[in-house]
Amino acid sequence: MNKLTESDHQFLNKAILLAAIPVGEVSPNPYVGAVIVKDGRIIGEGFHAKAGTAHAEVVAIQNAKDNNKSTVGATIYVSLEPCCHHGKTGPCTEAVLNAGITKVVYATQDPNPSVAGKGEKFLIENGIEAICADSESARQINKIFFHNQIKKTPFVTLKAAMSLDGKIASKSGDSKWITGSDARLEGHQLRVEHDAILIGKKTLLNDDPSLTVRIPDQNYSNPIRVLLLRTFNGIDHANYQLFNTEIAPTWIMYPQNQSIDTALKAELLAKNVRLIELQDDEIIVDSVLTQLYEEKVMSVLLEGGSSIYNAFITAQKVNEFALFYGPRLIGDAKAPSLWDHSNITDLSEAPILSIHATEKLGNSIYVQATLKEVE
Ligand SMILES: NC(=O)c1ccc[n+]([C@@H]2O[C@H](COP(=O)([O-])OP(=O)(O)OC[C@H]3O[C@@H](n4cnc5c(N)ncnc54)[C@H](OP(=O)(O)O)[C@@H]3O)[C@@H](O)[C@H]2O)c1
Repeated sequence: MNKLTESDHQFLNKAILLAAIPVGEVSPNPYVGAVIVKDGRIIGEGFHAKAGTAHAEVVAIQNAKDNNKSTVGATIYVSLEPCCHHGKTGPCTEAVLNAGITKVVYATQDPNPSVAGKGEKFLIENGIEAICADSESARQINKIFFHNQIKKTPFVTLKAAMSLDGKIASKSGDSKWITGSDARLEGHQLRVEHDAILIGKKTLLNDDPSLTVRIPDQNYSNPIRVLLLRTFNGIDHANYQLFNTEIAPTWIMYPQNQSIDTALKAELLAKNVRLIELQDDEIIVDSVLTQLYEEKVMSVLLEGGSSIYNAFITAQKVNEFALFYGPRLIGDAKAPSLWDHSNITDLSEAPILSIHATEKLGNSIYVQATLKEVE
């Protein structure tokens, strides 16, 4: 068993930090960073910036060349096992071999069961030393990719802003703003990290949200906005901000047996809103996620309301909870809360969450948690 030294860990951590730079840009690919070291010094580094562009190892090798450094006999530190298959770009294992690199230290194995270990096998068969550090932090930055590869469905995050007594709006539907600006900024960061944001009909009708990314001095692209409907009842015009597809794509997903008013349909299509009929007569969360995955949506941020939260929690399809609590009490049984329709009678039936992180954001509190059953 090869032991990693303190400096191995430092270079590997640098590769993991590099990996996380292009936040929100690499889907459906993983975040990957690489650092090439020779005689104890970094001679090249890089990260995978966007799907379809060069992989981190290739970028780092090119960077070493640009620095007029020879990679022969060097060690490369990579945040994920180098790939050995032909995708949109060539296999990284071959690039490493061709560069004369003699040692690869990688943070974690590729999660795809059909490729896991094959990158390492190729390296060893070609005389390159390969060591896996089995790093949990490397898996965490790629939690979406790991989930996709293993479960073949999108990673689902439930984001909700609540009063301290768990209400997501007042009984009249007023929800702007329950939390403070620092918490809302973090909410925008979550939008950057997901391919799509999904909401229900009453949230559209009550809030008319734009669901775009608004972070000062940044120019991130907006995720796809998905409106999940059981019926089109109550949507009597196409002037909602969500239907302005000049700022971001919008998809409406609805059961196949639902009819749409002809004029509304024409208006929506004229605005380039995509109408997606589900393959069922009702909303089945599993099928919604399967269809989104087939459309290359690798991650979904649920932004309410309570009926949508209920559907996904009940189906046990929430992979992570991002809960923001503002310093208010709203009260009243008629005000919607995070999970209004739980049907739980006995506390022993109540799902237990693991809390992974808490943070005070201005006057609000952020809780990151997962359902124990779906960890
Ligand atoms: N604080 C927050 O973070 C936050 C976030 C979002 C929303 N909100 C607030 O939440 C309130 C809305 O919550 P809500 O629960 O009343 O509404 P919602 O979840 O946005 O939409 C509910 C509607 O969606 C449809 N629906 C029900 N179950 C569904 C399912 N499984 N899949 C798809 N659609 C389904 C139903 O309409 P049909 O059967 O007629 O189709 C239902 O009336 C708003 O006042 C909003 O301000 C707060």
